[in-house]
Order: sequence, then structure tokens, then C-alpha cells
Amino acid sequence: MVTSAPSKSPLPHFVTERLVVKLLAPSAAPMMVRFRIENRHHLTRWEPTRSPQFYTEIFWQTQLRAHQIDFERGESCCLAVLDHAEQQVLGVINFTQIVRGTVQSCQLGYSLAQRCEGQGYMFEALSAAINYTFVTLGLHRVVANYIPNNKRSARLLARLGFEIEGRARKLLLINGEWRDHILTAKINPDET
Ligand SMILES: CC(C)(COP(=O)(O)OP(=O)(O)OC[C@H]1O[C@@H](n2cnc3c(N)ncnc32)[C@H](O)[C@@H]1OP(=O)(O)O)[C@@H](O)C(=O)NCCC(=O)NCCS
Repeated sequence: MVTSAPSKSPLPHFVTERLVVKLLAPSAAPMMVRFRIENRHHLTRWEPTRSPQFYTEIFWQTQLRAHQIDFERGESCCLAVLDHAEQQVLGVINFTQIVRGTVQSCQLGYSLAQRCEGQGYMFEALSAAINYTFVTLGLHRVVANYIPNNKRSARLLARLGFEIEGRARKLLLINGEWRDHILTAKINPDET
């Protein structure tokens, strides 16, 4: 599905059949604000409570700069999913809590614009992004958790080859409430 290899740039940037997946520069803050404002209500029940600052350019300039620094430090890999013209943010993919040593794992989170659901966009973007974490970042395990009634997320992860490992009670504070989560993980399929 990936139609071009990761660019020579040290920052992740790859192109799939219908999408571009990349680490955004701070100058792209307006695009990110548009995505966040347009999808504010769509994402409310699946995400932490957001402050009013979360919907401002100054917040995203700072946040995108922090994403670059954290990537360079090897701590996270926070990506945007864009159209081929790179004019609109269609979604986000965040690999956080990268742990090395004997663990070699990270935590996956993602969100797609409401108008893009049901077209396989997140599957396409995540297929490329997860491959990047295994092949280029050399990670061994990607962990992803979802609220039990998030059926779209459950189907997406199953389709990507994530396996259910358990259930954690009141794991994350989502939309002001501690919510149970189904725990899943995908192991690097190419390891010997
Ligand atoms: C979770 C989320 C990313 C899933 O989005 P999605 O569009 O359902 O996921 P996919 O990209 O895998 O698309 C799959 C759907 O597209 C359909 N589809 C259409 N064309 C397709 C194509 N060319 N390739 C693959 N699937 C295609 C599939 O049949 C499937 O539809 P279905 O679920 O109704 O059967 C999205 O619902 C979302 O962002 N939700 C809010 C935030 C959230 O829940 N985040 C995760 C917290 S754990």
C-alpha cells in the first residue's frame, strides 16, 4: 500500500495510495486547528477533555514544535494524515511512550475526521505508519487500547492484526470519566 519509501529526511514522511503521512512543521498549525475545530464534537467522547487553548494556532505551533523535539529525542512519533495535496489534515496518529531497552514498545493513538470515516483511510495510514515503527524505528511491539463500545476502533485494530490481551479497569480519563479499556498489541511480524 505504501507507494514511496520514507523520505531521506530524518523526519517521517511517507506517501500511500490516497494519503500523505508526516510529522508536521509548526507552520502547519492552522491546518491542525481546522481539523480540531471541525471535529470537536465528533472526537469529544473518545478523547480527554480539551481546554479552549487546544483550538488555537499558538497552542498547535508550540505542540508541533514539541512533536519535532520529542521525535528527535526518540520519545514519540506524532504524525498527521493529509490529502495528497497536503492542504487538509484528515487525521492524526500518535506513537507515544516509546520505551527502548528490553521493552522496545510504544503506545498508539489515532483520530480520523468524521467526514473521512468508512473509507479505509485510517487503515491505509496506519498500515504505513506501523510498518515505519517496526522497520525504521526498530520497535518490537505497538500497544493500542480502546473503550469497549468503540466498535470502529475495535474493527480497525483487528483488521491491522492487533490481538486482544486483556481489559484494564478505569484506565484513562476520557471526556471527564475514568473509562475501562480493551488492551491490544501488535508484535513486529518480521522478527525472527
Ligand atoms: C476509530 C476510527 C479511526 C476508525 O475509522 P474508520 O473509518 O472506521 O476506519 P478505517 O479507515 O479502517 O475504515 C474502515 C471502514 O471503511 C470501509 N472502507 C471503504 N473503503 C475502503 C477501502 N478502500 N479500504 C478499506 N476499508 C474501506 C470499511 O468497510 C470500513 O467500514 P465499516 O467499519 O463500516 O465496515 C474513527 O472512527 C475515529 O477517528 N473515531 C473517533 C476517534 C477514536 O475513536 N479514536 C480511537 C480511540 S481508541
